[in-house]
Amino acid sequence: MDQLKVRGGKSLQGHIQAAGAKNAMTKLLVASLISDRKCTLYNVPNIGDVEITVNLCREIGSEIEWDKKAKTIQIVTPELKTSYVPQRYSGSNRIPILMIGAMLGRTDEDIIVPTIGGDLIGARPVDLHIHALQKLGATIEYREMKKEGAYFAQAHEGLKGAVIELLYPSVGATENTILAAVRAKGTTLIKNAAIEPEIIDLILFLQKLGANIMVDVDRTIRIQQAHEFHEVEHTVMADRNEVASYAMAAIATKGRVFIEGAEHLHMIAFLNKLREIGGGFAVKRNGIEFFYESNLRGGLHLETDVHPGFMTDWQQPFVVLLTQTSGASVIHETVYENRFGYTQTLKEMGADIELFTQCLGGKMCRFASSNHLHSLVIKGPTPLKAHDIWIPDLRAGFAYIMAALLASEASTISNIEFLDRGYEDLVGKLSLLGADITRLTAPKKACKAALHNLLIKPTSEVDIGAALS
Ligand code: UD1
Repeated sequence: MDQLKVRGGKSLQGHIQAAGAKNAMTKLLVASLISDRKCTLYNVPNIGDVEITVNLCREIGSEIEWDKKAKTIQIVTPELKTSYVPQRYSGSNRIPILMIGAMLGRTDEDIIVPTIGGDLIGARPVDLHIHALQKLGATIEYREMKKEGAYFAQAHEGLKGAVIELLYPSVGATENTILAAVRAKGTTLIKNAAIEPEIIDLILFLQKLGANIMVDVDRTIRIQQAHEFHEVEHTVMADRNEVASYAMAAIATKGRVFIEGAEHLHMIAFLNKLREIGGGFAVKRNGIEFFYESNLRGGLHLETDVHPGFMTDWQQPFVVLLTQTSGASVIHETVYENRFGYTQTLKEMGADIELFTQCLGGKMCRFASSNHLHSLVIKGPTPLKAHDIWIPDLRAGFAYIMAALLASEASTISNIEFLDRGYEDLVGKLSLLGADITRLTAPKKACKAALHNLLIKPTSEVDIGAALS
């Protein structure tokens, strides 16, 4: 498999264009399956997760034209050819489970979504999805099959609007419920719903498609059954994870980067924390410029949270940024219980990080009485040294790229397929900003061996929840 070689010591300078959001785009493709109307999507990111979702939709019956140069996709699904999500898509990302919500109101067949086998299931709960869809009238069963299991879902009696209270404002469960509710009879209320910007983008898309959806101030989303559907034209929102990633890389390397298309509204919590440590930014008419001003300050307390809080996906690169600040800072991860595994490599590179099972900071979270290492204390500044790095998940992957950009020697980074899934033209964009980064293409034989190693990697070393985010 390919690797990246990164020689650090350069500060990032220049101008890049924000890509369309991975976490919105993939859901919009799935949402288009609700009806047989043509949907045209603009600002489509050219990333692995979109490729995977496009292939999956094609198998289900979608006709898709993807003009990668123009960044547009046209998708239309005149009929569902199958409602079986092939096994090979399970585990590649979280899209397959959303197929249930999108297809329930459109087929009388069983929707079959295989799961990845064994221990991994426990680390990737979908209980909130299943419970909400059942409240709408779906019958969903988990059946053991030969090697692994699958969810079998159907709504032969039709879907009916309901009041659903989510125990936790899960992004995926909210999306799945909205998708199903668009075709459910009457009105559906989702209380304690997630209201991430990507969900609002989905709601905008669905409104154009014909749905009536209200977002109340108290995290309640109200969906009325759609009676007719229309063709849709929709521009995908900018990827706030990509924007934050390059912003942190620019400031950590004492550089200055303008990100065209970065949307201020989606970055409020991030910009506040950046300002607290002395990171510079200026919001312009058509994007945001990020720059290093003077010595970065630690002494920060940061808690990840659901929107409008500080997003969990920003946490890993932020930790690398904190290695360059003076003083101690505290991070409390409240969204995923096991999202600090990547810090071991940072410690080997020179970071001063200690992990804790307690909730360090303002409030107790869901993991208060568990044994999960979900708080950390980091002390800086610490120089980082080069390392051979294996990427465990997408956001940790970018954090490692940042760490390698800060080290003076060359680091080799493997398992970069995670980065391909979520970051458009990573090497091209970083090179444009002056980074010394090269992609080493592996011969086919080595690819096979690496794939084998990846598949047999002990699951304890991988945070599956984060790996699939
Ligand atoms: C999405 C994003 C991911 C982001 C996350 C939180 C995509 C493709 N991924 O993931 O980048 O980090 O939101 O902002 O959009 N949970 C349950 N039961 C469930 C569902 C979730 O316990 O049925 C738990 C999860 O284990 C996790 C937490 O809820 O601890 C958050 O998960 P969720 O909000 O559902 O994240 P995703 O939609 O999977």
